[in-house]
Amino acid sequence: MKIFRTANKIFEFKKLSILENKIIGFVPTMGALHQGHLALVRQAKKESDYCIVSIFVNPKQFNNIDDYNNYPKSIEKDISLLKECNCDILYLPENNDIYGNYQGYKMDFEGLDNVLEGKYRTGHFQGVVDVVYRLFDIIKPDKSYFGIKDYQQLLIIKKMIKQAGFNIEIVECPIVREKSGLAMSSRNMRLSEKQKNNAAKIYEIIRNKKFSIDDNPKQIENQISQEINNIPDLKTEYVIFCEQDSLNQAYQFEKNNGVMLCVAVYCDKVRLIDNFFYVFK
Ligand code: PAF
Repeated sequence: MKIFRTANKIFEFKKLSILENKIIGFVPTMGALHQGHLALVRQAKKESDYCIVSIFVNPKQFNNIDDYNNYPKSIEKDISLLKECNCDILYLPENNDIYGNYQGYKMDFEGLDNVLEGKYRTGHFQGVVDVVYRLFDIIKPDKSYFGIKDYQQLLIIKKMIKQAGFNIEIVECPIVREKSGLAMSSRNMRLSEKQKNNAAKIYEIIRNKKFSIDDNPKQIENQISQEINNIPDLKTEYVIFCEQDSLNQAYQFEKNNGVMLCVAVYCDKVRLIDNFFYVFK
């Protein structure tokens, strides 16, 4: 695996004639890699000729300085995990290589940044768009891989691609979970074993919640929130049913129409998100 630390190295690589008509698959990450990331890398590897992974802890997308400072880092381990997956190139830029002469990319979020994560993490999605736009502009991949756990991010990146005119296929990848059901996240590294067991109850509760099409979504949200809050260490920030494409809040359930439940939950000081898609038949 080659490690490039500057955009210029990527540009030189992209000029190589061996790349003609070759498919470049790209997985952007912030490091502290887990099996969820590696599933994206493996899929990219399967579907492309060259797989590029970036590791950059993007300061602009953290609305909370403690979260940024405490974001887990494990670069040596990340490098060996990527080698095991036969990743071809790791792009490991410094802040200046990303933001040196670049102010960011202004897009029309069409309201997608006002709800859920956008509402509770002011500026977060602008920061994500800024870095992903820049990474796409440097790497110019054919395909890029994103997990459904960050579902709102996925929708926003798809919108950004259209607005910016990038010719990149965004590949949606399923949530990878621990055996316990806990959605994999780099932030899980900050949880004790006991806290991880408690946090695993989030998925158990949302997956097993029984309700019918005639129920009122608000009441079900409140019940789920209470059930989660009854588990030690857990405190919900939001529990919201929303429409799958617009993320508008669902005020009633509809036949043949799926509904997405999105949750953000603090486990002690660590903020976790998860989601679950229900369909009424
Ligand atoms: O999902 C992430 O890890 C980050 O938001 C991303 C897409 C790598 C941008 O920093």
